[in-house]
Amino acid sequence: MNPLMSTLQPYPFERLKELFSTVKPNPAYAPISLGIGEPRHATPQLVLDALAGATQALAAYPATAGLPQLRQACAGWIKRRYALDADAATQVLPVNGSREALFAFAQTVVDPTRAGATVVCPNPFYQIYEGAALLSGAKPYYVPSDPALNFNVNWDTVPAEVWANTQLLFVCSPGNPTGAVMPLSDWQKLFELSDKYGFVIASDECYSEIYFRDEPPLGGLEAAVKLGRSDFKNLVAFTSLSKRSNVPGMRSGFVAGDADILKQFLLYRTYHGSAMSGMVQAASVAAWNDEAHVVANRAMYREKFAAVTPLLAEVMDVRLPDAGFYLWAAVPGGDDVAFARDLLAQYNVTVLPGSYLARDSQGVAGAKGFNPGAGRIRMALVAETAECLEAAQRIVQFTKSLAH
Ligand SMILES: Cc1ncc(COP(=O)(O)O)c(C=O)c1O
Repeated sequence: MNPLMSTLQPYPFERLKELFSTVKPNPAYAPISLGIGEPRHATPQLVLDALAGATQALAAYPATAGLPQLRQACAGWIKRRYALDADAATQVLPVNGSREALFAFAQTVVDPTRAGATVVCPNPFYQIYEGAALLSGAKPYYVPSDPALNFNVNWDTVPAEVWANTQLLFVCSPGNPTGAVMPLSDWQKLFELSDKYGFVIASDECYSEIYFRDEPPLGGLEAAVKLGRSDFKNLVAFTSLSKRSNVPGMRSGFVAGDADILKQFLLYRTYHGSAMSGMVQAASVAAWNDEAHVVANRAMYREKFAAVTPLLAEVMDVRLPDAGFYLWAAVPGGDDVAFARDLLAQYNVTVLPGSYLARDSQGVAGAKGFNPGAGRIRMALVAETAECLEAAQRIVQFTKSLAH
């Protein structure tokens, strides 16, 4: 067996299952889960129709590079969304959702034979970054999200000797679980560091279309062009239809950026067997070419967050995020694990303890053993508004009861 397998950590939901294994939820309440971040709004009909109309594609092996129509649809969306040009032939590649792509990317980019191979991740973070780093033979280095920076990561806390060994950096903007959008000034900092130390930046942008401010979130490619880097040197952005178009089961997204890196990534993917089904490609073309359903989807999230956030803000430190579909709230008393456990027991509502999404941070002076997710919970507002409101009311009741 590959010895690196034993370095993989249990997934946050496994830890939650274990925590809840001895809890008896109050049967007076119907269960509501804000735990799993899985989109639950309806899949648009135009995607279903395109999928159903493409069954003939099953009779042939699809190409790993994808159909030219799909790559053009992705490049067209990039043009409309970010007002920039990506070459459909060399700077865009379809992937089966961003999860597999984030994982595979580390296997392509990291050279484990170089001493001290390091992958830098935000903290808290999407756990695939960690598994991807470990199985590529690198060590993850976690950089804490900072509440004083709108929960963005303070990249200045990373020591030069860590940057010197860094081969890959994961950026998550909009962030899961924090909802923070990384500003242009941070992109500038990271591009300078990448130029100095030679590492690659993987920018996970799968929540980019669900946002609450007027201005859509800044994308990595957009930041690069603004800063005069239209070749996207050492940058690859990961985009997905799962949340944008409510198709988490379709497994469709794309990567875009540095053509030299994508050439190698395509080679890796050819061996890995990561071609996208022709049916899914046809449905993806329809989804990327339509924006009306995305506007409607975003409006549903906006309405939901506008209704739920003020209710919760009465009893806990929580506010509307920049983007994404999570609330990232501080729990009174500061014990996120006990809060999640007792909330389930008394009110049958599932939330995710923030400490399960983070690791003890390294490198912060005087903060050894500090878990930047501790004391917070993540609530995914993916259900219908009425169900989310019901959950929020129960959380308010529960939180008030803690004060007595
Ligand atoms: C931060 C982040 N990145 C990537 C993904 C993967 O999404 P998908 O593989 O459906 O594109 C998720 C899913 O929850 C996520 O939260």
